[in-house]
This record gives sequence, structure tokens and C-alpha cells, in this order.
Amino acid sequence: MNKRKKILVVFGTRPDAIKMASVIKQLNLCPDFKTQVCITAQHRQMLDQVLRIFNIKPDYDLDIMRKNQDLFVVTAKSLLQLKKVMLKSKPNLVLVQGDTTTTFAAALAAFYFKIPIGHVEAGLRTYDKYSPYPEEINRRLVTEISDFNFVPTTWAKNNLLKEGISKNKIFITGNTVVDALHDIVRAIKSPDKKIEFGKKLDFLKKKDKRIILITGHRRESFGEGFRNICLAIRELATAFPECNFVYPVHLNPNVQTPVRRILSRKQLPNVYLIEPLDYILFVYLMQKAYLILTDSGGIQEEAGTFGKPILVMRNITERPEGVKAGMAKLVGVNKEKIFRACKQLLTDKDVYDKMVKRKNPYGDGKAAKRIIGILRKKLG
Ligand code: UD1
Ligand code: UDP
Repeated sequence: MNKRKKILVVFGTRPDAIKMASVIKQLNLCPDFKTQVCITAQHRQMLDQVLRIFNIKPDYDLDIMRKNQDLFVVTAKSLLQLKKVMLKSKPNLVLVQGDTTTTFAAALAAFYFKIPIGHVEAGLRTYDKYSPYPEEINRRLVTEISDFNFVPTTWAKNNLLKEGISKNKIFITGNTVVDALHDIVRAIKSPDKKIEFGKKLDFLKKKDKRIILITGHRRESFGEGFRNICLAIRELATAFPECNFVYPVHLNPNVQTPVRRILSRKQLPNVYLIEPLDYILFVYLMQKAYLILTDSGGIQEEAGTFGKPILVMRNITERPEGVKAGMAKLVGVNKEKIFRACKQLLTDKDVYDKMVKRKNPYGDGKAAKRIIGILRKKLG
């Protein structure tokens, strides 16, 4: 009889895939477990990019993504299809990551079958119901039904303790995104790779130009917020023609439409609106950037590794460690505030230098090993 415990890893979006890659790798190396991977494919192209980079071959692909999908459809489709997957797979544990709708639906499906749940990147909080939306509530609901909460930092652990979660269910591991980042940094060290990347990213040819790397996709900023972000970038690009503003635009139509309308290349030769980059190219570009302007969760956790100052286009963050360490600043989605903060970093070297800290408060690259060690002890 096969005594190996079966673990079903479920995810659906780009960041979840990046953050689960090292967990899957370590699980596959561990003889105690049989691992299966299920992707809802809540994202398609952006998820497939990550699967290719980390050579992940899912056992189940639910392929649910549709253009401009809403939360109801993603939740309902995931839940119904995950029922079938879990009935077939019969796992001893379901592992989910973060706070996406896939994360919530997978945890809920596991709970309905009374299958134990492990939550990677647990404990992040803003305590603002609608920011980020719907992620704050997704992750809080997942906490309620999780058996193993793998928290990245002490701050996250304390959040859960304050909420009454038993300390026996909380494990500080660091964030697995740092594991992924270290893997990629190792893989792209060779000079040949750098020549290849340079060819793919033609704006890098203008070596004298500083690069401002931009990303944005949060639901709570759709509409007015995105308009402000784009207007701020337009003003910055006009005020600083000696900088290149590089924006790999998220494929969500609610992002694509305002970004492409307000920041068209013809009027702004130093603004590069490009397709989402695969993780390797994106990591390379982070290394080349002078500063990063983003609302992304994952990028807040990565920028510190490269000592890149980061301006967070949100009013509140569940990742206060970077702000506390002085490497990140919250600038909201206010046009003037974004413009002023960015201008200051571009013109005041002292302020800039103070934000350059080459220490990552979110992890040391060994999170997945810790998670698997804990699971071996507890499930083995
Ligand atoms: C989702 C997550 C968010 C996470 C983000 C990471 C939810 C509710 N939101 O937001 O927490 O921070 O992913 O990027 O779980 N699209 C494509 N191709 C892709 C991906 C997206 O075309 O590969 C387009 C589709 O039109 C899709 C839309 O983007 O309908 C929205 O995707 P969705 O996953 O619902 O929301 P995100 O904003 O990507
Ligand atoms: N990323 C990427 N290509 C891009 C933009 C981002 O690979 O063009 C990576 C980034 O390095 C980080 C993750 O995607 O690891 C963040 O994804 P996103 O901002 O979409 O989601 P969030 O982290 O906010 O949930």
C-alpha cells in the first residue's frame, strides 16, 4: 500500500504560481509526499509564462479564465470544478497561497470535504475590508479554515495571534517569493543571458537613461484611481525626458484601456507600454530599474533584494515591513502625490540613497524548505 501522503497544490494566477514554484519543487524532492498540482487558470497567458519558467506541469488544468471575468464567475467555476478534482485526487492536504479568489475557492472546497488546509503567505492584513479588494477578505476567510498557517514574518504571525488563532497552527517561514527570486537570480547570472535579455528589451540600449519600472492592477483602483496613476506617469514622462518609463501592462481590460488611452507612445516617446514580461525578464528589469512604481504585492516583497526604492500606489499596505525599513513609501493613487514622490527620488540623491537598502525583510530564500520540513513533521 502507498503510505505517501498526497498533497494537492492549487493556484490560479501569476503571483501564486511564482510563490508556489519553490514549494512544488521541494515537495517533489521529498519522498514522504505524492504531490499533485491543480491550476484553475484564473489567469491564462500570465500563468502559463510562469509554468514555463519553472517547468511546472499541472495534473489538472481547469482553464476557467474568460475576458473581463467577474468575482462571482471565478469563485463559482473554481469551486464546482475543484469539487471534481478533490473527489478524484482525494488529497490528505490542500495547499493554497495568498489571497486570490482561487485561493479562497480552493480552501473552501477543501473545507467542504474536511480536508486539512495549508495556507502559504498567511497573516497579511490591512483590516480594511475593501483594500485590497477582494483579497483582504479572501485571506481572512482562508485563515478561519486553515490548519497550517505559513506566515512570512513576525508581524504576520502577530496578526493571527491577535485574531485568536492558536500558536500551534502558525509557522514563520519567510515568503516563498524570495526563494523564487533567488532561483532566477542564480539562473540569469551568465553574461550570455544578459546579452539575450538586452536584445529582447530594446529600451535598455539607451544606457544613459534611468528606468522607472511601473506595474499596476488593483481592483480598488479601477476607474478614477487608474486615471490618476496614468496622468501622473504622463506628467512625469514629460518632466523627465531623460528617463524611460517602462510599464508591462497587466492584461486585465480595466487596466489596458486607461493605460493605453492616456499613455500612448506617439505623444510620449520615453514611455514603453509592453506586454507582461516572463518572470526571468521581469527580474532582470527590476535589477536594471532606478526605482519602481507599483501597486503589486509581490513586487513590494522583491524590490528590497535589489535595493530598489519602491513607491507603492496604494493608500494602505499589508506589507508594512518594507515601509518600516525605509525602502518603500505609500503614495496612494493621487496624481500630485505620485508625481511629487517620484520627482523627489529622481532629483534628490540623498533621499534616494536613504531608500536603497539591500536587505529583504520578507524572506531568506529558504521558505519552501521550512514549509516542507513542518509538513513532514506534522503529517509524516
Ligand atoms: C488577480 C487576483 C489578484 C492578484 C492578481 C495578480 C482575484 C480576485 N484577483 O487579479 O488578487 O493580485 O490576479 O495579477 O483573485 N487576463 C488575461 N490574461 C491573463 C490574466 C488576466 O487576459 O493571463 C485578463 C482577463 O480579461 C481576465 C482579467 O484579466 O478576465 C482579470 O483577471 P482576474 O484574475 O479576475 O483579476 P486580476 O485583476 O488579474
Ligand atoms: N511579474 C512578472 N512579469 C511582469 C510583472 C510582474 O513576472 O510583467 C511578477 C513580479 O515579479 C511578482 C509578481 O509577478 O513576482 C507580481 O504579480 P502581480 O503584481 O500581478 O500580483 P500581486 O503580487 O500584486 O498579487
